[in-house]
Amino acid sequence: MKLIKDNVYYCGVADFGRRIFDQLIPLPNGTTYNSYYIEGSQKRALIDTSYSKTIKEFLDKLNGKGEFIDYVIANHAEGDHSEALVKVLQMNPNAKVVTNKKCSELLVDQYGIPQEKFHIVNEGDEISLGNKTLRFHLTPWVHWPDTMFTHLVEDNILFTCDYLGAHITYEHGNIFAEETQEYLLSAKRYYAEIMMPFRPHCKKYLEKVRQINPSIICPSHGGIYKNPDFILDAYQEWTCDTPKNKVVIPYVSMYQNTERMVDRLVEKLREENVEVHKFDLISDDIGDLAVELVDAATVVFGASMVLAMPHPYAFFGVYLTNALRPNVKFMSIIGSYGWGGNLVGKIEENTNLLQVEKLDYITFKGRAKEEDIERVDALAHTIAKKHKEIGAR
Ligand code: FEO
Repeated sequence: MKLIKDNVYYCGVADFGRRIFDQLIPLPNGTTYNSYYIEGSQKRALIDTSYSKTIKEFLDKLNGKGEFIDYVIANHAEGDHSEALVKVLQMNPNAKVVTNKKCSELLVDQYGIPQEKFHIVNEGDEISLGNKTLRFHLTPWVHWPDTMFTHLVEDNILFTCDYLGAHITYEHGNIFAEETQEYLLSAKRYYAEIMMPFRPHCKKYLEKVRQINPSIICPSHGGIYKNPDFILDAYQEWTCDTPKNKVVIPYVSMYQNTERMVDRLVEKLREENVEVHKFDLISDDIGDLAVELVDAATVVFGASMVLAMPHPYAFFGVYLTNALRPNVKFMSIIGSYGWGGNLVGKIEENTNLLQVEKLDYITFKGRAKEEDIERVDALAHTIAKKHKEIGAR
């Protein structure tokens, strides 16, 4: 355990080798499963537990304190923070699980924890550890419906669960967030995958955190913030309603016909002073794609047809973008087909969550002809014009 402040300890585990999260987004820097132990004058509390693969290391970190827990605070039911809960309860038969109703239901579903084990809290409820008070704030949808924050009142430490986290580990063992570009990029990648689909809630709880005005923020992944503004200012930027003058192009191209048109669009957008990022869905890191979608104003999907369908990897890019629900305002499709098929329709029906104005969709048989190239040039000009109209940053 590592001391954070006056009998408040970090007992999380760093998973240096983990390379993918949710079997979806690559983790170049691993991740941590953060847990916190608080020793009050009368009671002891554990905030969240750990992941199944790190239970032994987690219990070792508790350094003998694991058998003297009065309350386990479950800020969220997902397995990376609660798979060790059953073991902790076995070690502490009299301990109560303190959580909200929704989280208790999920914990019952997942782990069969008996109903009588729970102490259910609502917004603003408190429990006393003697000289320390835990106050609970219900904050659903960052990112599950059960999420809550726990405020350690006397020490003014806020435990925000997944919210404000980052997938990063430090080989040198630092538990505090280092205020570097590397950290911010890890936090942005994390935000893009986990929080961006819930951007309005992220924005709302940002105000709540600022009202609480904690001196330290302890999230469930990544470093502890001794300077909360470091991460709060980043979230302010990422949840901004006005996107940047930026285009993101996820694409797949089998015989370079689509890719040549993607490259033409990139060239013309740059001439129009529009920032543009293209991602080959076969070989590029989709975590980087997610990061660039955070503040892009336009997404253009590029696809080849195969077997009379848009290429499956194109579908993956479209499906992922739709699920992440970025704040994009405009959308287009560029694609080449060999002999037929419904490229546009199949892509479009998987973009139902994007609240976008649809721009020109440019499909062509085989290699693009002069008139197709002219349409791509016009699309670049239209995008630049549209971005100006919405005041893109
Ligand atoms: Fe880190 Fe939603 O669990």
